[in-house]
Amino acid sequence: MASEHLAALVPAAGKALDVSSVPVNHPGPGEVLVRNHAIAIQPLDAKMLLGGYGGGGALQNYPALLGSSGAGIIEELGEGVTGLTVGDRVVFDTRAIVDGSKNRREGTWQQLVISDAKTVAKIGDVAFEQAVLINFPLETAVAALLLFLGVGKPGTGNGEAKALVWGAGGAVGSYAVQFLRSVGYQVVVTASSRDKERQTRMGASETVDYKAPDAIEQLRALGPFTYLFTASGDPTSQKALASLLQPQGGRFASVLGGEVDLPSNVERVYKAFSQAAQQDENSDFRAWWYREYLPKVLQEKLVEPVQFTKISGGLAALQQASEDVFSGKVRGKLVVDPQE
Ligand SMILES: NC(=O)c1ccc[n+]([C@@H]2O[C@H](COP(=O)([O-])OP(=O)(O)OC[C@H]3O[C@@H](n4cnc5c(N)ncnc54)[C@H](OP(=O)(O)O)[C@@H]3O)[C@@H](O)[C@H]2O)c1
Repeated sequence: MASEHLAALVPAAGKALDVSSVPVNHPGPGEVLVRNHAIAIQPLDAKMLLGGYGGGGALQNYPALLGSSGAGIIEELGEGVTGLTVGDRVVFDTRAIVDGSKNRREGTWQQLVISDAKTVAKIGDVAFEQAVLINFPLETAVAALLLFLGVGKPGTGNGEAKALVWGAGGAVGSYAVQFLRSVGYQVVVTASSRDKERQTRMGASETVDYKAPDAIEQLRALGPFTYLFTASGDPTSQKALASLLQPQGGRFASVLGGEVDLPSNVERVYKAFSQAAQQDENSDFRAWWYREYLPKVLQEKLVEPVQFTKISGGLAALQQASEDVFSGKVRGKLVVDPQE
């Protein structure tokens, strides 16, 4: 193996990416080295590169690396790794964001990435792009709904209780709808009116245009909701969900936090859902996700993937692609192959 490979480094806060040759890392005990073939740019990455968001301190030791998710082929196994072998096609999540000290080894915006073997899933013959397109946002939705709201695993619902997904047009929202349907809920969503047909196909029983002036009244007539989730996370959505919980109060999950004035009888559940599997306290969820549920979803095509555009140019294309995601002009996800 070559001793050097390419990485898209953030040289300093607010600086553009610098694609440079860096030494290859080798896996320690319980780790694997993966040749990364797919990066899907997440809003989080774009906010960290361009919006001054530090990702909980990950970007403190510059030069730093973005990205905590990738898909590729295992090149090396560390001591004690079982159930995985060199040559396996995998999708994986790393500690690059939750542990800044591991950022340069585990940031996925590079060609060869170290990952803890516990957060690696085999994908068989599923395309790398499809695997990254689904993993990160689906995991976000499922962690929020299953771990933090307690909606239950697929097949455990009674088909009658109702769940509400606000902002179902994005990746997290789309996968939340499909997961809730698979658990066994009636799912009401808000999305753009142009998205209604796709929402119905994914299993939504009703689609309300979130821009309609009477959106909350329409939703109130369709409720009450046992579970409420905003996958856009904006203050308008948070206030809307809080209002739908009145007069008795209750809780909702949100992908974003922020200072939002909410009634005292409402609890907002906001966490780094996408990183939940990195926490040892969620080891049961982690084992289920990487060993059982995610491989099944990918192999059996249990979710309809969101729209994506493959961007050519390899790591050098990540700067412009991030700017396009950050400015909000992209629909769906942008995917880059770091080996190009
Ligand atoms: N807490 C976490 O762990 C976590 C994890 C992942 C993502 N996030 C956050 O979750 C958000 C969504 O991520 P994503 O990957 O799903 O993004 P995405 O796929 O880029 O979704 C963007 C889409 O969401 C819809 N949308 C945007 N603003 C909206 C609003 N104000 N109200 C309702 N819908 C709106 C739009 O669809 P239409 O135009 O069709 O309506 C837009 O195309 C981002 O802010 C991201 O940073 C948080």
